Amino acid sequence: MRYQSIFRPDLFANKTIIVTGGGTGIGRATAHELASLGAHVVLAARKLSNLEKVRDEIQADGGSVSITSCNIREEAEVKALFDFVLDAHGKVDGLVNNAGGQFLSPAEFISLKGWQAVVETNLTGTFLMCREVFNRYMNEHGGVIVNMLIEMWRGFPGMAHSAAARAGIENLTKTLAVEWARSGVRINAVAPGLIQSSGLDNYPDAAKVFIDQYVHDIPMKRMGSESEVAAAIVFLLSPAAAYISGESIRIDGGSSLWRKTWEVPEHENAPATFDGFR
Ligand code: ADE
Repeated sequence: MRYQSIFRPDLFANKTIIVTGGGTGIGRATAHELASLGAHVVLAARKLSNLEKVRDEIQADGGSVSITSCNIREEAEVKALFDFVLDAHGKVDGLVNNAGGQFLSPAEFISLKGWQAVVETNLTGTFLMCREVFNRYMNEHGGVIVNMLIEMWRGFPGMAHSAAARAGIENLTKTLAVEWARSGVRINAVAPGLIQSSGLDNYPDAAKVFIDQYVHDIPMKRMGSESEVAAAIVFLLSPAAAYISGESIRIDGGSSLWRKTWEVPEHENAPATFDGFR
């Protein structure tokens, strides 16, 4: 059965759209939705095995898809990805910078290596993908880019590295929206809150208990779905968003407006240490 998109059929007919990290989770849902709407989707990720599964699923639904391995942290591999896509299709109408990753850890336990891995994958990888798609195609022909954030505007206790990297991506998105408007490039971002996605499988059981608790602090009292994030990405890629650039959309059930994700125990370690009038 084809993916049940709420957008109109053929919305992306004749469009070539790259989705990084398209083998799992939100990337997979986005790939299915775009293919169901007529796009040729190019899926790129480090490991081919997940991509092969999604390719087979999309082809079984009658969609058009190709796959290639690419580590977005490696400049040479990013350049090779665009060689691959431009040789085969001659164009890139859209780019979804979905690939990324992080791990849960209080900040004081994050090693330099762990910090660098998360920042390089999320922030540097996104930058390299944006720069190459612009230089290789969109500078001359225009296009649309959607970047992936997490909902991190009040900080993100437990994932300091990813929140810092995503805040960087948010700012990069704004800068590029202005610098590249002259070329007809739009660039936006989505910021998922707690999503019932395959990404959660990577978290330890202790974190899963915490996640269940966290659901109670979401105004909508549920997790979001991969499809609900994919729909926002597809909207931003579509002409319906033709006058939107540099924007970030939260997809979080209202949780950014009302949440308590980090227990601060009772303590007396923050006394007032001065009073200028005494
Ligand atoms: N998914 C997670 N990390 C990635 C990376 N470095 N390159 C491509 N896809 C990824």
